[in-house]
Amino acid sequence: MKNVTRINKAVFPVAGLGTRFLPATKAQPKEMLPVVDKPLIQYAVEEAYGAGIRHMIFVTGRNKRAIEDHFDTAYELESELEAHGKKELLALVRSLAPEDMFCSFVRQPRALGLGHAVLCAQPLVNDEPFAVLLADDLMCGPDGGPSVLGQMVEQFAKTQTCILAVQEVPRDHVKRYGIVAGQPAGERLTKVEKMVEKPNPDQAPSRMGVAGRYILTPGVFDMIRNNPRGAGGEIQLTDGIARLMTTEGVHAYLYQGRRYDCGSKQGFLEATVDFALKHDEVGPEFREYLKSVKF
Ligand code: G1P
Repeated sequence: MKNVTRINKAVFPVAGLGTRFLPATKAQPKEMLPVVDKPLIQYAVEEAYGAGIRHMIFVTGRNKRAIEDHFDTAYELESELEAHGKKELLALVRSLAPEDMFCSFVRQPRALGLGHAVLCAQPLVNDEPFAVLLADDLMCGPDGGPSVLGQMVEQFAKTQTCILAVQEVPRDHVKRYGIVAGQPAGERLTKVEKMVEKPNPDQAPSRMGVAGRYILTPGVFDMIRNNPRGAGGEIQLTDGIARLMTTEGVHAYLYQGRRYDCGSKQGFLEATVDFALKHDEVGPEFREYLKSVKF
């Protein structure tokens, strides 16, 4: 792999069923659930675009058509808005698909795990480093600062290795995450020496949990392909990255900002409240409403 300072491609694994949000996700993709007025997938795509990425690769499945439509031209809607002079709304709708953004869609034919989903994107990624964003994890950079992926792209430019976004998680939550441990390698950086998917608390090598943002080198594809099934009988991305550590450096980056686990109802509600409070249009009134709520 030649020296790269820019990441051009992002992979969004969006084939999952979203069973934790049934019945809302019976007929619509979980990634289309809105936090205030934007679907989760749009937050993730905007984060990637803001970090300089222009080629978005969605690994989709059945019933995910709404995601494709969301980032495509909406001809009827746009001509209606135009005919009625609704310029602001028209600009809003068009801003979802900027002219320099290119979207590709590839199917994950069977739900064999996150590693398998990433492998499905290999023919589109080819031989270059790429980002992976899990839209369930809604990530916010610090106020006024770079996004979490933006911070990771900066780290990658220095290390030229895989960069995994990590945060400290409570001991009783380690079972929900890929957990990493290793040696300090700079400010907020750890050279990863161990990585395990969803360990029991008494076997976890640390409490550093991987959030849903990765920058990966293309070497990971062969490592995933040659993986036996891992935790939960799935082809795990974590196991592929752990194997890659035998031939390449992998760094964990303690990101600045906050993660909302929007794959869970609690995280989704927390995101909704926080984003509503910050929202230009509804924020002030919503704040007043919250003050009036009796507990
Ligand atoms: C996936 C990964 C896990 C990571 C998590 C972050 O798990 O397998 O390593 O820590 O995303 O959200 P999932 O939440 O899809 O079970």
